[in-house]
Amino acid sequence: MPEPALRLGPDARAELARWHWVEATGSTQDWALEGAVPDTGSAVYLAGRQTAGRGRRGRAWQTPPDSALALSVLRAFDRPLASLAPLGLAVAVRVAGALREAGGPRIGVKWPNDLVVGDAKLGGLLVDVRETSPRPVLVLGLGLNRALPDDAAIDQRWTDLAREGWPVDADALASTVLDAVLPALARFDAEGFAPFAADWPGVDVLAGRLVRVQVGDGWRDGHALGISADGGLRVRHAEGEAVHHAGEVSVRVAA
Ligand code: BTN
Repeated sequence: MPEPALRLGPDARAELARWHWVEATGSTQDWALEGAVPDTGSAVYLAGRQTAGRGRRGRAWQTPPDSALALSVLRAFDRPLASLAPLGLAVAVRVAGALREAGGPRIGVKWPNDLVVGDAKLGGLLVDVRETSPRPVLVLGLGLNRALPDDAAIDQRWTDLAREGWPVDADALASTVLDAVLPALARFDAEGFAPFAADWPGVDVLAGRLVRVQVGDGWRDGHALGISADGGLRVRHAEGEAVHHAGEVSVRVAA
């Protein structure tokens, strides 16, 4: 797969400090975690395939050759680490919106960081904290299925953009995604989660549905109610409403 020809808009270019591309690597996330942190803006790491891609909760992430977008962004933030918790949600909202606008399918977000079409996973975000002082330094990874082989070894329901009727080319996809991600990082650093929260209901695939949330070692059932101002998942349980800030969520019954 050749080096991508990125065509970025002015907001993304203003945020981009530098970018790197390699045909194959273990994980762009691990590559970015070792990179030099830009004084301002973001450093982007892109790969044509990953041999040891990582998903959330220690899961493996498949990036076969020339079939998916795999990128990580390394950035230092001026705001406190605690306020960065909903960063993945914010970026997911913007990526889903940008892909829809560019002609893609009706992409939704499953809290916290899954990009989905219906109940099938299309992509996901992974946020790693690299340093906490003097400024928080984070690496945000994004994997997006473009046109996976039929025999992709993925142990959950999945889809890709080609199967959803959008055979987008790799360069256009990378450019569209970075045009959404890079300005979102700058805006989040300046203004926090509030500007993104308003758009959450438009992409939320859990709202109103019966869900099962992992809490500690157990699971609790309830109805998803959207998110709190700080990006937690609001759920109405039999005992009353709770806000969950971490954990797995599965949908129990299609509503
Ligand atoms: C998830 O849904 O579990 C998150 C998946 C994140 C995958 C991306 S692909 C680019 C970057 N490099 C990795 O090893 N992981 C992230």
